[in-house]
Amino acid sequence: MKTGIALIGFMGTGKTSVAKVLARRLGKAYFELDDIIVKKAGKSISEIFRREGEARFRELEIEAATEVAAQKNAVIACGGGIVINKINVDHLAQENVIICLTASPAEIYERTSREQGVRPLLNVADRLKQIKTMLKTRRPLYRRAADILIDTTGLTVESVADKIIGALKKYESNNQ
Ligand code: S3P
Repeated sequence: MKTGIALIGFMGTGKTSVAKVLARRLGKAYFELDDIIVKKAGKSISEIFRREGEARFRELEIEAATEVAAQKNAVIACGGGIVINKINVDHLAQENVIICLTASPAEIYERTSREQGVRPLLNVADRLKQIKTMLKTRRPLYRRAADILIDTTGLTVESVADKIIGALKKYESNNQ
């Protein structure tokens, strides 16, 4: 049986906050791929994008995902673009149930307004339009990668964690 959980989904769907709560409630280790990348590179995500470009960031993301995917009993918060390179999903899926968090574009817009400047891909004049455009191309990738989809629109972090724990029980009893 898989011992860990990987949280995927678009920026602003709550992956990091939910992963922390889930790790605490389930007694698992917490990992955040973006944090690992920042520590290894010695630069912020914005700096990596600005100085070295998105392609370099994606290489670092593959390295971090490969390392963490081998951990047992972990809750891994992934960056929103983890699904762009299918190899990440393949690695993560070996030890982890993949849970995709979703939210409406309006809610993503709202949540990402609170931390402006930290997400280079949303650093554009019309953020809502950018969110909708990116969701169109990313949605099929998230759906294909996910074992479980959880809509977080209008929910608190704790209630998203409740929903995930419930869905996991069902998933595990169907996949024994
Ligand atoms: C990205 C999402 C970000 C971060 C980087 C790229 C993306 O992570 O990895 O800015 O391509 O969706 P969060 O989803 O944690 O914001």
